[in-house]
Order: sequence, then C-alpha cells, then structure tokens
Amino acid sequence: MNDTTDIPVIAIDGPSGSGKGMVTHALARGLGFHILDSGALYRLIGLAAIKSGTDPADEPALARLGLEMDVRFEPTDDAEEPLRVFLEGEDVTVRIRTDEAGVYASRIAPLPQVRESIRILQHSFRCAPGLVADGRDMGTDVFVGAPLKIYLTASVEARAERRYNQLKDKDIGVSLAALSQSIAERDERDMNRAVAPLRPADDAIVIDSTSISREEVLERAFALVQEHLGLTVTRDATT
Ligand code: DC
Repeated sequence: MNDTTDIPVIAIDGPSGSGKGMVTHALARGLGFHILDSGALYRLIGLAAIKSGTDPADEPALARLGLEMDVRFEPTDDAEEPLRVFLEGEDVTVRIRTDEAGVYASRIAPLPQVRESIRILQHSFRCAPGLVADGRDMGTDVFVGAPLKIYLTASVEARAERRYNQLKDKDIGVSLAALSQSIAERDERDMNRAVAPLRPADDAIVIDSTSISREEVLERAFALVQEHLGLTVTRDATT
C-alpha cells in the first residue's frame, strides 16, 4: 500500500448540524483538497440495507454492504451540497440527506463490524494534495495523526433551526420541534455509544458556533489552517 502519511488531513468532527459540511466545503475549495463525508458512508450503508432488504440487526450483513457497496462522490460548486453521491450508479444525494436516513445511519454506526468495514475506504480518500475529513471520529479514531483537528459544535436549538432551513430549501418537509427532538436523540446516541463515541480529540480545537456568525466560524478555521499547516485558504464565490 502507498504511504500516505505525509498527505495532510484536516479532521472536522462534531454533532449533527454544527456546520461541519459548510466548513469542510470552504476549506476543501480554498486549499484544493479532497473531501471525505464519512457520515454519507453510514447513510449509504443504511440505504443499501433498505434497498437489499437487509435486516438492520444483522451486523455481518451490514458490514458486507459496507465492504461491497459501489460508492462515488462528485464535487459540486454548491456550498449546501458540496458532493453529489452515487450508490450503484444511482444519484442518491437527496435521499441520503433525509432525517430518516440520518436516524438509520446513527443506529447502525455503533456496530463495530460496520465501522471496520469502511475504514479502508475512508483511508483511500487521503490523496494529494490533502484531505478534509468530516465526521464524528475523524480526529479520535480514523485519522488520529491529523495535523489539524477542529471540533465544531452549537446548541441543539441553533442546530435544529439551521437544519430546518436547509431541509425547507430542499422541499423536505419536517417540523422544527420534531427536528430538535431528533437531533437531541441523535446526540445522545452518537456521544454515548461504546465504540468511537463523539467527543473532541484531546488535541482538537473547539469552535462553538451557537452565537457567532458563519463568517466568524470560517475566519477562525482559516486562521487555524494557517497556524497548523502553514497554508493560506483562498476564499471563492461558492463559500
Ligand atoms: O454527519 P451525518 O449526520 O451525515 O452522520 C449520520 C450518522 O452517522 C451520525 O448520526 C453518526 C454516524 N457517523 C458516525 O458514526 N461516524 C462518522 N464518522 C460519521 C457519521
């Protein structure tokens, strides 16, 4: 296997709706880096399970889906949807973003065999000139040696409102109260599971975006890249 340990990785972890996708897109665009959306991989296993009629409790079968699924990501110019996602050649970008797919993903993500099944796939995204890896355990498990780890967070209310507006723009109907509850339950599952629970890595820098603007979050992230990697992030119209 090629040695990729010299290729820089920026790990962006945090709970659902904390703005990881937005920061990941801005950094990847501005540095010309690749993107790993690890949450999409768990959502895709969920979708593959539904499509093939796999029992959601059958861990080995779910892990096989993780190993065998044919996944393709295509970068876009859209900050809200930085990647188009294909499963077995079918564009599932919108389907994997539904709250239902997110809940399914968070149910199967604690299964150790499922997590292991996509480890090699996740590492394969580490290509020159660099990678921005978005997830829950990028800094604590998958890329522990990453030279920059950012942990993004915000209150449940702030995150529910942002997610509500995103879904509304995509005509995916859901109530704010239901979304708040679902986010709180998802936090609970993601943070309290036995395997790779969501938490900041010891060497992660925490950015709480509850009461700061999107601009300020980006400014802080760009400054951290300069400080830790010595690279200047160029801002373009899509970010
Ligand atoms: O980031 P997201 O909302 O697309 O993630 C969906 C679920 O997948 C999330 O609730 C937990 C799980 N997940 C994970 O366990 N590890 C990751 N690196 C990314 C996501």
